[in-house]
Amino acid sequence: MITKTTIDRIMEAIDIVEVIGEFVQLKKRGANYVGLSPFANERTPSFTVSPAKGIFKDFSSGKGGSAVTFLMELEKFTYPEALKWLANKYGIEVEETVESHENKEEENHRESLMIVSAYAAKFFHESLLSSEEGQNIGLSYFKERGFNNETIKKFELGYSPDQWEAFSGQALKEGYQEEFLVESGLSVKRDNGGLYDRYRGRVMFPIHGFTGRVIAFGGRTLKTDKNVPKYVNSPESEIYHKSNILYGLYFAKKAIRDEDNCYLVEGYADVLSVHQAGIENVVASSGTSLTVEQIRLISRFTKNITILYDGDAAGIKASLRGLDMILEEGLNVKVVLFPDGHDPDSYVRSVGTNAFKNYIDQNRKDFIIYKTDILLKEAGPDPIKRAEVIREVVESIAKIPDSIKASVFIKDCSHILQIDERALLSELNKMRLAKSKKDAQQGAKQAEQFEELPFEDIPLEKPVREDYSQEKEIIRLLLLYGNKMIDWDGIANTYIGPFMIAELGDVEFEHNPSKKFVELYSKEVENGVLPDEQLFIHLPDKEVVDLTVTLLATKYTLSENWYEMHKILVPDEQVNMKATILGAIFHLKKHKVGKILDNLRTELQNTQGDENTEILLTQYMQMKKVEKSISDYLGSVIIK
Ligand code: CTP
Ligand code: MN
Repeated sequence: MITKTTIDRIMEAIDIVEVIGEFVQLKKRGANYVGLSPFANERTPSFTVSPAKGIFKDFSSGKGGSAVTFLMELEKFTYPEALKWLANKYGIEVEETVESHENKEEENHRESLMIVSAYAAKFFHESLLSSEEGQNIGLSYFKERGFNNETIKKFELGYSPDQWEAFSGQALKEGYQEEFLVESGLSVKRDNGGLYDRYRGRVMFPIHGFTGRVIAFGGRTLKTDKNVPKYVNSPESEIYHKSNILYGLYFAKKAIRDEDNCYLVEGYADVLSVHQAGIENVVASSGTSLTVEQIRLISRFTKNITILYDGDAAGIKASLRGLDMILEEGLNVKVVLFPDGHDPDSYVRSVGTNAFKNYIDQNRKDFIIYKTDILLKEAGPDPIKRAEVIREVVESIAKIPDSIKASVFIKDCSHILQIDERALLSELNKMRLAKSKKDAQQGAKQAEQFEELPFEDIPLEKPVREDYSQEKEIIRLLLLYGNKMIDWDGIANTYIGPFMIAELGDVEFEHNPSKKFVELYSKEVENGVLPDEQLFIHLPDKEVVDLTVTLLATKYTLSENWYEMHKILVPDEQVNMKATILGAIFHLKKHKVGKILDNLRTELQNTQGDENTEILLTQYMQMKKVEKSISDYLGSVIIK
């Protein structure tokens, strides 16, 4: 875990305008900055940053939070990833607590591997640009393939000298440890001790991880000799798990989100050429078949994948099964085939960006349709084979979780297959039924581990939708006034926060973020601390941060329209602080009592005339009394 001191240092260093400014163009407006929402498509800026509070609020998507939340939302970082990104930006050294000796060691280990990889990337990149051999062989190869300087720089392309120890020797001389050089696969250990280079005389493609650090390499030979492997890739290591990585994702993230689509290609060269042509939402699975992890990585940014295939790929049919997996994850899959002999790299270079885009638009087919076409062509007129096609196609459709989407495909495929829609539907239902039975069996197994719930505990009707406005009002007051003093009828000065916490007593909060907020607030108060808004803005818990920011976004600090938009009237609450605070607390209590009464009423309706009725009735009368006394109190003391 990152230490509190480090987190504090990072928080102190953060300039939210600077951080967000790296992703959104911000303009100053009054005390705030505004820009176009990076989370929604909009023409007029509704995305607001308040440097004074250190928060942002996006009025089109409703998202809001601190600089850390922003990075988590936009870059899909985890909390520690976001902190490390910020630490890196502000040159802060990250200390992590030694939870256990092993954890610390593991983390150091990973870090060492990353450092060695970063060093190697630099070494190969410089060798490409500055050494004679690199320029003559590596750089001229890249230039011949049409990669410009910008692309070479951005993707940190490199060249490994055609010698046995050029890299290893230099790395050892500069103090990098043998252990990490070997483990990262950059060096190989000789039987007699020394190290030699794994990559020799190859052009180098560094592979960047999710946060942009180099974690592995692919090295392509420039020889045409069939006995030399075309690519040499890094072995799996603690920082490189091939199945979790997509080549180019770090550079494609933003475009994938903006375009709401991800192009999937096969090779490094395809990514580079397509990206260079200005189509930046492109990633490669790097020669392996797509994994579920890779699909989930993409689905953090978009639900639409377009696969760009070589026209002559022999593996097209083999890949069909892999694509079903994308459907199962609930994503939409389209497929584009290039003309014979072309892959995306060669095609975009031969026809140019515009023609390439047009080609994609005109030849993009939904995966299911594409699959149906291919299988049908293959089956020819043979009726048995055709029946098999129908089964396979419906099998794919059955994987689609969204049943409306599935039924659209059934319709389309019934045309292509020239078979009655109802026949396909009944086939689909059969498969669905089989699948749900299987799922149910698994579910039942899990359920056995839990005790059976008594039947009566299950509510018969769904409760009325609640907006928890009373609970949120308490949080709002704690945030705005919790650390302020109040003169209580001239008797004593008290801090509002601790007073409210005491007064709330054992009121049970139901709205989860509010509940967590109050729990943390109480804990701080117990420890003698008066928490302020900054504590809640910077929590790792997104739910609580969201609540905090939404409540803090008052008309004075953020959008002028906020209150009008939401038709909220804010009476001059500070004039009568006591009424405001007691009002909020008693409104909440009254609401809770109201709910108890509702429940009792339902129960009474369901237990006509048995021995329970009397007990329930007594409870009901008592609660009615409580309700009345709260109402009286609210009526007499508080004008609201
Ligand atoms: N690949 C690999 N090892 C190989 C061959 C291929 O790891 N021996 C992976 C690489 O990630 C490669 C991708 O599969 O980028 C696609 O293979 P291929 O089309 O042969 O490579 P390209 O990168 O397109 O190479 P080029 O266009 O330079 O021939
Ligand atoms: Mn290629």
